Amino acid sequence: DWTMGAYREQAIAAIKDQVGDKQVICALSGGVDSSVAAALLHEAIGDQLTCVFVDHGLLRLNEAEEVVGMFRDHMNLKVIHADETELFLGELEGQSDPETKRKIIGKLFIDVFQKYANDIEGAEFLAQGTLYPDVIESVSFSGGPSVTIKSHHNVGGLPEKMGLKLVEPLRELFKDEVRALGVELGLPKSFIGRHPFPGPGLAIRCPGEITREKLEILRKADAVYIDQIRRHGLYDDIWQAFVAILPVRTVGVMGDGRTYDFACALRAVTSVDGMTADYYPFSHEFLGETATRIINEVPGINRVTYDITSKPPGTIEWE
Ligand code: XMP
Repeated sequence: DWTMGAYREQAIAAIKDQVGDKQVICALSGGVDSSVAAALLHEAIGDQLTCVFVDHGLLRLNEAEEVVGMFRDHMNLKVIHADETELFLGELEGQSDPETKRKIIGKLFIDVFQKYANDIEGAEFLAQGTLYPDVIESVSFSGGPSVTIKSHHNVGGLPEKMGLKLVEPLRELFKDEVRALGVELGLPKSFIGRHPFPGPGLAIRCPGEITREKLEILRKADAVYIDQIRRHGLYDDIWQAFVAILPVRTVGVMGDGRTYDFACALRAVTSVDGMTADYYPFSHEFLGETATRIINEVPGINRVTYDITSKPPGTIEWE
């Protein structure tokens, strides 16, 4: 009789066995996988685990505070908040090519993680929230040629470079099992059910040049949009929803004045695994209400569009 409770005990024993009294470091993103991995490791080895939360300044409204607050203050994990906003935004200045942005962010992410990890005395292990499908995928892709649509950043090759051994306590699990394990470990259901968020963050929802002004507008608009989705009880029916700020200003009228502000696009899709996706069929009423709220509540936006492209031919993100 296989239960998550039994799996948990077995996984904890295996971690203790592998790690012994050594120190472990982990890149905590706030995503489901790294969060559940961190919670499980903490239960197994307590303070031998140190998490590094790399803050690239491309996160959603209050995201860093929420993630760090929950793990550090609520669950008592050792978490280093590596706020490197200046570094990332500085390097991204003037860059508008999607792949260039991704590469800059991926490289800096590894540099920053390495810098903080080097300060953690006696670290011998690197923990990763690798899932079973990741294990399979890396095997089946290694044979033939593949087309790279977007270079996803990950920390592949990092453990060897840093002389660390890997701990991957979720290697045998599928996504839904990881969620169940997270609940078993006491992570809030609202946290476990969060939509996926890409590593490069808001950078790939800001086509063209990234500026602080655009990021601030994007954060506010996204918060209003997600609030609308939650209020209408639609959050769990949607795989992913977000706002993209478009690199174009348009003319509008508000009160008796002319406005000249940014346009944005709302995106919401249903999907099973992110490989294919359908746009979400919101009601016109929902869309109208959301557009009105965003324009009223977010200075800097005067036009809202809804993206009705499915994947393929579109991708979920705009870059
Ligand atoms: P696309 O845009 O390729 O997205 O249809 C499919 C899923 O992958 C996420 N995504 C990323 N995740 N690093 C990530 O960690 C990336 O560079 C990246 N690009 C896309 C996207 O949010 C969606 O869930």
